[in-house]
Amino acid sequence: MGSMTTRRRNCGVLQIEPTDFCNLTCPMCHPQQGFRPNLHGDLLKGYMDVGLFRRIIDGIERSDVCFDHLIFQWLGDPSLHPELFEMLRYARQKVSDRFDYFRIDTNAILLTPDRTEQLIDAYLEDPLVPVLIVFSLDAITRETYRKAKGRDYFDVVMANIAHFLKRRGELELETITLNAEFQFVMQSMNAHEARDFVDYWDRTCAQGRNGVGYNDIMVKRLSVGTGGEKQHAADTIYSDTIERFGLAPFKKEHIELKIWMERAWEEHDDPDSARTDLDLGETGLAAPTVA
Ligand SMILES: C[S@@+](CC[C@H](N)C(=O)[O-])C[C@H]1O[C@@H](n2cnc3c(N)ncnc32)[C@H](O)[C@@H]1O
Ligand code: SF4
Repeated sequence: MGSMTTRRRNCGVLQIEPTDFCNLTCPMCHPQQGFRPNLHGDLLKGYMDVGLFRRIIDGIERSDVCFDHLIFQWLGDPSLHPELFEMLRYARQKVSDRFDYFRIDTNAILLTPDRTEQLIDAYLEDPLVPVLIVFSLDAITRETYRKAKGRDYFDVVMANIAHFLKRRGELELETITLNAEFQFVMQSMNAHEARDFVDYWDRTCAQGRNGVGYNDIMVKRLSVGTGGEKQHAADTIYSDTIERFGLAPFKKEHIELKIWMERAWEEHDDPDSARTDLDLGETGLAAPTVA
């Protein structure tokens, strides 16, 4: 089984945004509401130039900086970038010694079988350099997916992930470090599925070779940009649901369960050090009345 390494804890994360376009409008995700043409100041939404990406990586190669990991995402979905896996390939070729692993967060709508082949090709260039794919799912039924993600792509996403797991399982390697995280951001409209979500991915990864590599399920807190009462309500849904279903972290051979008992910034002495400029706005609790 592959594992996630932890050699560079506290070295910081380098976040690179291949695109700020997204093909979803999850109600919790304020930046993607309203189809705004610009999310970063006056800059129109766009796709990162691969030449610029290479220059950044070349600069890292020339320097002596190192990071915990490189994460390909910010306000959009990185899978929309046609050259995402070329970027991944380039970074792993040039600066794999500066990062413990390379991470892509995606809603997986465009992680089609063709794109999975591109990912696997890039990964296989050096199978010992870990890659983590975080699947932002937030639901385990079509109905709830439609509410949590705003559109009806549940079947597409589940088929894409099943294909990813199948292809990964077919890799004939002693150590596989093409890793997966199944992410569930707890909200009022999906909380009732938290246990089923955990059980589904636990069961799925236990089957055949679906669990090769490192896998985890992340049950994550909803962030509400406005904080205050609405954040408190979101936190209450979170803790009530964890308690109601008796969810507790576990570590099995094929998968781990991770629970965020505290919000990340509460673990820091300096709250500003852990803040992001991700404006999550008021829409974090967009459907507070749906149980
Ligand atoms: C903005 S998305 C960009 C990457 C990709 N589109 C995705 O969904 O994984 C980055 C992460 O933010 C999370 N996210 C978005 N809105 C959130 C919120 N209000 N609270 C907590 N996490 C949120 C998503 O679940 C995702 O894991
Ligand atoms: S959370 Fe990710 S998939 Fe959902 S709208 Fe935001 S950027 Fe898109």
